[in-house]
Amino acid sequence: MRWKGIISQYGEYLPTLASEAIVTLHEGNTPLLRARQLEAHLSQALRIYLKCEGSNPTGSFKDRGMTVAVSKAVEEGSKAVICASTGNTAASAAAYAARAGLKCYVLVPKGNVALGKLAQATMHGAKVLQIEGLFDEALELVLQITEAHKITLVNSLNPFRIEGQKTAAFEVCDELEDAPDYHALPVGNAGNITAYWKGYKEYRERGVIERLPKMLGFQAEGAAPIVRGQIVRNPETVATAIKIGNPASWQAAVAARDESGGLIDAVSDQEILRAYSMLAELEGVFCEPASAASVAGLLKLAKNGYFASKATVVCTLTGHGLKDPERAMDCAPEPIQVPAEMRSILAEMGI
Ligand code: F0G
Repeated sequence: MRWKGIISQYGEYLPTLASEAIVTLHEGNTPLLRARQLEAHLSQALRIYLKCEGSNPTGSFKDRGMTVAVSKAVEEGSKAVICASTGNTAASAAAYAARAGLKCYVLVPKGNVALGKLAQATMHGAKVLQIEGLFDEALELVLQITEAHKITLVNSLNPFRIEGQKTAAFEVCDELEDAPDYHALPVGNAGNITAYWKGYKEYRERGVIERLPKMLGFQAEGAAPIVRGQIVRNPETVATAIKIGNPASWQAAVAARDESGGLIDAVSDQEILRAYSMLAELEGVFCEPASAASVAGLLKLAKNGYFASKATVVCTLTGHGLKDPERAMDCAPEPIQVPAEMRSILAEMGI
C-alpha cells in the first residue's frame, strides 16, 4: 500500500478530521536505521536505532504535527497561521500553509536561524519577521498576537501539533514490534518529548505494545533550563534549533521524564558536534547539529555505564543536515583544489 501521510495511516489515533480538510505532504514513514558502526564504537553491547526525521517532506519532524494542525485550521475556516520558530517549525508551517492556501507569518530570532530553514520559509511564501531577540521572546509575542487576532497558532502549544508528532512513537513500535528500552531525543521547546511519551502511552493503553520506554531528553549545556531547574535568560549553543531558555512544554517534559523513569540531561556543544560528525562519517546519516544531541547524550550515558546490557535505544534525529550547510562546512575538511589533470588527481588520491 502506498504511504499517504500520518493522518491516513494513524487517523484512528488522531482527532477526527473532514477528509476534504486534510493537508498533507505525505509526511512520516521515516527510516528507522540500525546503527551498527556506532554500536561497534561503544564498548558495551547495545542495539542502537536512528529514527531519521530529516526524511520528512520539509526535512524535520515538525511536518507530523503540522499536517494535523494546518488541517484543523482549514476545517475551522482559519485564513492564516503564525508561529515563533528557531527555523524548522517556520519551514514546515510555511510549506503546509502554502499547500492549504493560508497566509503564514513566522517570527524568528535574527541571526540564529540556519540558512536552509530561512530559505524554505521564504520560498514557501511566508512572511518572515526577524526580531532582535530570542526565540522565547518571539513565542511570547506570537501568543499575544493570537490572543488578540484571528490567526491560528501552530507552535506546539497547539495540541494538534503534539497529536501529529506522537505518530513517530507509533512508527518506532510498529517496526520494532514493541517499545524500545530507551528513547533519546533533543529537547528545545519540549513539545516532541511530550508527543513521543503520549504516543507510547496510547499504544500501550490500546494493547499494541506491552511496555514503555524510558525517555531520555538532552538539552544543550548553554540552553538547559529543565536540567538546571530555572529559566536561562541568555541561552547559548551551536545547536540553534534548541537555543531556548524557557520551554513551553516544560512541565509535560518533566512528567515524561518522571513517569518513564528516564532523565533529562545536558550535553556540551563539543559533544553535540562530535556526534554530528560521527553520524555522518560512520552511519551515512547527515542530521543537523541539534538532532545530534540525542546521540551525544547516548554516548555520554553509555560511557558512564548507564544502560543495561543489550538494551535497545532509539535516538531521534530530528532534522536534516542540509538545513544548516554553514555549520557543516565549518566542521568538515576543505575540498582539495586540484588541476584538471590526471597525474595530480591520482597523486591526491594516493594512487
Ligand atoms: N531538533 C530540531 C531540529 C528542532 O528544530 C527542534 C525544535 C528540536 C529538536 C526540539 O524539539 O522543541 O519539540 O523540544 N525546533 C523548534 C522550531 C523550536 O522552532 O523549529 P522541541
